Amino acid sequence: LEKEALQKVDDATSLKELQDVRVAYLGKKGPITEVLRGMGKLSKEERPVIGELANKVRGNIADAIDSKKASIEAAELEKQLEEETIDVTLPGRPVPTGGPHLLTSIVEEIEDLFIGMGFEVREGPEVETDYYNFEALNLPKGHPARDMQDSFYITEEILMRTHTSPVQARTMNAMEDKRPVKMICPGKVYRRDTDDATHSHQFTQIEGLYVDKNVRMSDLKGVLDRFAKQMFGQEREIRLRPSFFPFTEPSVEMDISCKVCNGEGCSVCKQTGWIEILGAGMVHPRVLEMAGYDPKVYSGFAFGMGPERIAMLKYGVDDIRHFYTNDIRFLKQYHQA
Ligand code: PHE
Repeated sequence: LEKEALQKVDDATSLKELQDVRVAYLGKKGPITEVLRGMGKLSKEERPVIGELANKVRGNIADAIDSKKASIEAAELEKQLEEETIDVTLPGRPVPTGGPHLLTSIVEEIEDLFIGMGFEVREGPEVETDYYNFEALNLPKGHPARDMQDSFYITEEILMRTHTSPVQARTMNAMEDKRPVKMICPGKVYRRDTDDATHSHQFTQIEGLYVDKNVRMSDLKGVLDRFAKQMFGQEREIRLRPSFFPFTEPSVEMDISCKVCNGEGCSVCKQTGWIEILGAGMVHPRVLEMAGYDPKVYSGFAFGMGPERIAMLKYGVDDIRHFYTNDIRFLKQYHQA
């Protein structure tokens, strides 16, 4: 029996087979257990002899199983290590990396252009008071122009800001010594709008404000012209059209000339050849006054633009919702290598 068992141990090639041998010979139903169980039927003289023999056989088999187990485990480890050997000469697999969102890149690009012209970057709250969002901008309660900016109200006096213009008033108010101000302010704004290809209930604006002695409309035109050329190319022209905003007087809308050139030549991208990109104007004297600046001493200009629109024009994005649905295939196209 012992010989037969040891042979089986020796033949076993896997831990599973070895376990089967252990159960067969040493298990509860195995022959050795049976012998030990039958001890009661033996004579007094036989008992110690048979008992010793059975225990010895059991010990030998168990030892053989243990040492075989160790050698099988070692062999398996060896095999595993061999299989998992790393070929360090293989070319690497590319690791996917993130990058700035197109909108972030555009805002930073615009910021850089204006920083280059001496503007500071400021920020203001997205949850705004009725006072700063409207009243301080010459839009008293009941003013019809409030309708142009359908709003999300939180209470009667607090709302999600509908534009970045409140930061104009906040910045001027915060200047205790009423120094000149030259700032831009990027940020999110909110309007009660139904989302479609060109509307979003939340979008981005960049506000600009320059207040000093003798700031003139020609300064506004110069700054905007430089911005348009740096952003879209030196061949671009700008054009100012009269418009209306309660917080600027006079008010304008700015178009840029719009030409798309490819290998076959150039064509205008809109029938008129011009496309509107921002609203602007000379800061209304009442707005200056409410913020503590004497309109007889100071004058200024302000503008407000939508970076989504700028990005759509610059990169031919056809739907504003692309900026917010965050389809990685869309975003990836704008990651710089
Ligand atoms: N706040 C205006 C808007 O949201 C844009 C604007 C800003 C116009 C500054 C003039 C001056 O439409």
